[in-house]
Amino acid sequence: MLDAEGHILAEAVLSQEREHAPFGGVVPEIAARAHLAFLPEQVDRAMSQAGLRFADLGGVAASAGPGLIGGLIVGSQFAKGVALAHQLPYVAVNHLEAHALTARLPGITPDGLAFPYLLLLVSGGHCQCVAVEGVGHHVRLGSTMDDAAGEAFDKVAKLLGLGWPGGPALEKLAAGGDPGRYAFPRPLLGRPGCDFSFSGLKTAVALEVGKLGSGALPVAVAADIAASFQRAVADVLADRASHAMAMMRLRSSDARILVVAGGVAANGAIRSALAAAAATHGFELVAPPVRLCTDNAVMVAWAGIERLRLGMVNGMDFAPRPRWPLDSVEA
Ligand code: KG4
Ligand code: ZN
Repeated sequence: MLDAEGHILAEAVLSQEREHAPFGGVVPEIAARAHLAFLPEQVDRAMSQAGLRFADLGGVAASAGPGLIGGLIVGSQFAKGVALAHQLPYVAVNHLEAHALTARLPGITPDGLAFPYLLLLVSGGHCQCVAVEGVGHHVRLGSTMDDAAGEAFDKVAKLLGLGWPGGPALEKLAAGGDPGRYAFPRPLLGRPGCDFSFSGLKTAVALEVGKLGSGALPVAVAADIAASFQRAVADVLADRASHAMAMMRLRSSDARILVVAGGVAANGAIRSALAAAAATHGFELVAPPVRLCTDNAVMVAWAGIERLRLGMVNGMDFAPRPRWPLDSVEA
């Protein structure tokens, strides 16, 4: 919940990790039911934390895609219900645009971040470089040809016997490992453009783990594999981001900000690699706090405010979209 300027009045993230962890990944049906079961009390909590009633609101925004349709329907219909009952404007937010605009929240950079800037979005479902040129103006410069970066972390974590989601556990394990021990491939490194590929890297790790025999790996070996894998991902992301920065400069000669968002942006090794790459290209890395990089409602509310300010509201007939590419989000 945000005030009109975008200051945070209340925030609450309800994790479904416990519900999905036994299955090693997100189960769509469980996700839909959990949304239905927990959303009303979650909204109540946020409202009382902010000390507001629905009638005090200036508008209601909800993520309408892309993503699993069950949760999108529950969230969208709930938001429409509140908007209808209190005659408030309703904004259907593209969740990728919400990640893209988070860096413009007041307080993230000293003077507020102006368009255009380059976004590297690295989450469990997405891996792309985007020129963010305005609200509703996004140009995808490159994206993954197979897995998302977070997906690769999750799959490798699984190979190493870590829980789900694997990214945070893998980073912790990697901290005690030698990143130079295994020479894993760096897919697409140095190739033109800024597309990504992670499936070959994941397969190389699987082959290495297979060679080490069945049964649990010694912790030191697992740590070296984790560290070597993480270094490979960091190298690839830094290289692809470097290409994207050059592409961005061609579009806008005054572009000088690289924003990183999505769950993988929480990774310290990846942040340092990106900061170094940015410095080389005369860019500055802006990384919102980790809690605002991973999926959260603050970023959706903020995207809602950005749209509301420009009069971009949606009708009650707006249907949630499981697929909704960022460059088709119209202004
Ligand atoms: O953005 P997000 O919260 O959800 C979506 O996928 O939209 O991203 C979750 C992903 C998961 O794949 C998770 O393993 C990864 O982000 N992740 C990390 C770290 N923390 C979360 N990957 C690497 N290092 C981390 N510290
Ligand atoms: Zn996300």
